[in-house]
Amino acid sequence: MTNRVTRISGSGSYLPDRILTNDELAAQIDTSDAWIRERTGIAQRHIAAEGQTTSDLGVEAARRALDDAGLTIADIDLIVVATTTPDFVFPSTATVIQARLGMDHGAAFDVQAVCSGFVYALSVTDALLKTGQHKRALLIGAETMSRILNWEDRSTCVLFGDGAGAWVLSAEEASPEAADRQPGVIGSYLRSDGRLKELLHTTGGPSSTRSSGYLVMQGNAVFRHAVVNISEAMTTLMRQHGLTGEDVDWFVPHQANQRILEAVAKRLGIASGKVISTVANHGNTSAASVPLAFDVAVQDGRIKRGDLCLLEALGGGLTWGSALVRY
Ligand code: COA
Repeated sequence: MTNRVTRISGSGSYLPDRILTNDELAAQIDTSDAWIRERTGIAQRHIAAEGQTTSDLGVEAARRALDDAGLTIADIDLIVVATTTPDFVFPSTATVIQARLGMDHGAAFDVQAVCSGFVYALSVTDALLKTGQHKRALLIGAETMSRILNWEDRSTCVLFGDGAGAWVLSAEEASPEAADRQPGVIGSYLRSDGRLKELLHTTGGPSSTRSSGYLVMQGNAVFRHAVVNISEAMTTLMRQHGLTGEDVDWFVPHQANQRILEAVAKRLGIASGKVISTVANHGNTSAASVPLAFDVAVQDGRIKRGDLCLLEALGGGLTWGSALVRY
């Protein structure tokens, strides 16, 4: 188990065509472009078309990640999808994507940790690859958050968007150099506290109300928990690996709010030029936000092979966590 490393072989992402601007929202509800930008940093978000599902977004992101890795679906033996907005209660979105990609072998399943989903799913996938049980995985974060928003609630509907991001992860033999020096997943740290459910949840579910319900949130309480808990998750993980904020090349945070990103980066001593922020263009895409932000920075040439990247997320549950990867 210790002689394997999980490498990021490819990255991809997909955003629906439809862009919803703050001004369009201000024409529908009592809000303004200025309020949304000032409190959140969000200028626009992408919204899935009528009939376009989470698996549709995930399939596109997965295809792009496979192309980036120079691989085909035949090379993959595991698909893990992080989502809060599955196409169906069952089957899992991962198995829907498995069929759509024409994969007739291996295994596929979903991970549900809301906005922390990609970090949780990365931790699970990394562990499965390191045991040798699977060799190459598609790890996908995909969401259609627009489908569980109350579009009359200005305190939540302005914050979220739809999208998907994906990585191809490969189990490879580790080289003799120190684990944190070679490309691959260095480590992850997961936390949750179910007592904090009321701060961020949906008003329903199949077993309680027979419907998905709508997202509700106590915004300023979540904000305070986000800054404290994310900072703690990042500090703990970096300390475990003998690293500090100065060692990090890129901070790739969950894209919930520009003010949260800045506050956390400041606490950790990470220079603002190292923060990858897509919150202005994507809004909060929940489990898709980290791989989407990562892919934007890979495509525009900021994140390069060998760079040390620190990921984090916090979401409903509450759940939170962090991960260190060398690209
Ligand atoms: N447009 C205009 N006014 C709005 C508004 C909107 N879209 N949403 C809320 N308001 C109003 C409130 O009604 C309130 O008015 P009041 O003082 O008359 O009652 C006022 O703005 C302040 O609300 P408050 O919730 O205290 O604002 P805030 O500064 O905390 O910002 C959030 C609200 C949601 C932007 C902020 O709390 C936040 O980002 N929280 C974290 C959210 C998050 O990260 N969630 C996802 C985790 S995965």
